[in-house]
Amino acid sequence: MSILIKNGRIITAVDDYVADILVDGNVIRTIGTDLTADADTTIDASGKYVIPGGIDPHTHLDFPFGGTISSDDFRTGTIAAAAGGTTSIVDFAVQQRGHALSESLDIWHAKAEGKAAIDYGFHMIILDLPDSRIPEMDEMVRQGVTSFKMFMAYPGAVMVDDTTIFKALTRASDNGAFVCLHAEHGLMIDVLVKQALAEGKTAPKYHAITRPPEAEAEATHRAISMAEVAGAPVYFVHLSCSEALQEVQAARASQKYVYAETCPHYLALDDSRYDQEGFEGAKYVLTPPLREQWHQDELWKGLRADDLQVVSTDHCAFRFADQKSAGRNDFSKIPNGGPGIEHRLAVLYTLGVCTGRISMNRLVEIFSTTAAKLFGLFPRKGTIAVGSDADLVVIDPDKETTISVKTHHMNIDYNMYEGMKMKGMPDVVLSHGNLVIQDGQYVGSPGQGRFLKRGTHK
Ligand code: URP
Ligand code: ZN
Ligand code: ZN
Repeated sequence: MSILIKNGRIITAVDDYVADILVDGNVIRTIGTDLTADADTTIDASGKYVIPGGIDPHTHLDFPFGGTISSDDFRTGTIAAAAGGTTSIVDFAVQQRGHALSESLDIWHAKAEGKAAIDYGFHMIILDLPDSRIPEMDEMVRQGVTSFKMFMAYPGAVMVDDTTIFKALTRASDNGAFVCLHAEHGLMIDVLVKQALAEGKTAPKYHAITRPPEAEAEATHRAISMAEVAGAPVYFVHLSCSEALQEVQAARASQKYVYAETCPHYLALDDSRYDQEGFEGAKYVLTPPLREQWHQDELWKGLRADDLQVVSTDHCAFRFADQKSAGRNDFSKIPNGGPGIEHRLAVLYTLGVCTGRISMNRLVEIFSTTAAKLFGLFPRKGTIAVGSDADLVVIDPDKETTISVKTHHMNIDYNMYEGMKMKGMPDVVLSHGNLVIQDGQYVGSPGQGRFLKRGTHK
């Protein structure tokens, strides 16, 4: 199968030019002007952007969490990702306590195989790491699972202690793995949650009040110290606030290998969502919580200045009707997470590029290229170059879409951006040479997505 994309404005992290792209099989074969190949399909991209497919390194599909399982599986979640211009995800497999890491990897392979619409890799979440299990990290790296995540929050569920984190960081400094951390002071938050409930404060808004920015900043600082002593790089997932950003900024200013992502919901939404009528605020019970609006400017500045390197979605969808409802009388029982896999590009384009906060090149960098580099996928993914996978997104810069639960592809009964007018929803998406989105609709076949055996970070 060959596809010729004509006259698109090709944007990578460093390029901006008009040319044609010839896709042959899975890869980009030729880039040039006035290409005349006899392709199976020709796409006219005149007046449109062509960017590399997005890489979302933080998704939770078919994920057991908070006493339930996230509502998007590898079929619905990856179709929604594709509809939003994402052509690779790195999802989280989670170790079962007391079990080998490889057992979980097998489970996650089974969840994804035959279902995924786009390419996928896995991080491994570590829940317990006795010394006898540490070599299993090397085996994961050999199998292309080159990053590990640990939680500094959620005590009694998935939190690990600092000893575990430090040991994992130390091993990572030897085997080239990349450690990702959910940084929040879990024990302090636990006290605040119990105090709030004892005072009868049960509404969703107390989720945010009991998880203050200081709790995120403290854990970020602590983890940076551990990573420095271990001699390993560290990556902070879903950074949400100015206080934590300052910790990352300070570390990077002193040449430490510290990286961080933020998420579209922290860039587009704020904590006033928790003041909505009744139980509506539960739709935004995700962790860390939405912050006061002024944090958004700081995060955008951080993205522009490369203090933040990646925007991921932390997509972890739970239905409002029958999953979020578990916490109707107790906010701490609301499964934490929000849906967003479909709207990362639209948020970055509409609120980032169209407002002048970031350039198109920077959009490509934080949407695709840097994640490819950090998570061992570059240059196969993350750029438009001869020989790279033909993961391509065509965007009409002027087309506006009103975001709605009625038209989204995610398997979830609400949309955090309901009613917002956004630009940047793709017209056409190619996943390793297969047409998966055309005129905004899914036209691929689930199962086309391939497991990505990742290298180590660059
Ligand atoms: O609320 C969130 N973010 N849920 C998913 C698990 C996590 O903490 O990333
Ligand atoms: Zn987290
Ligand atoms: Zn997450």
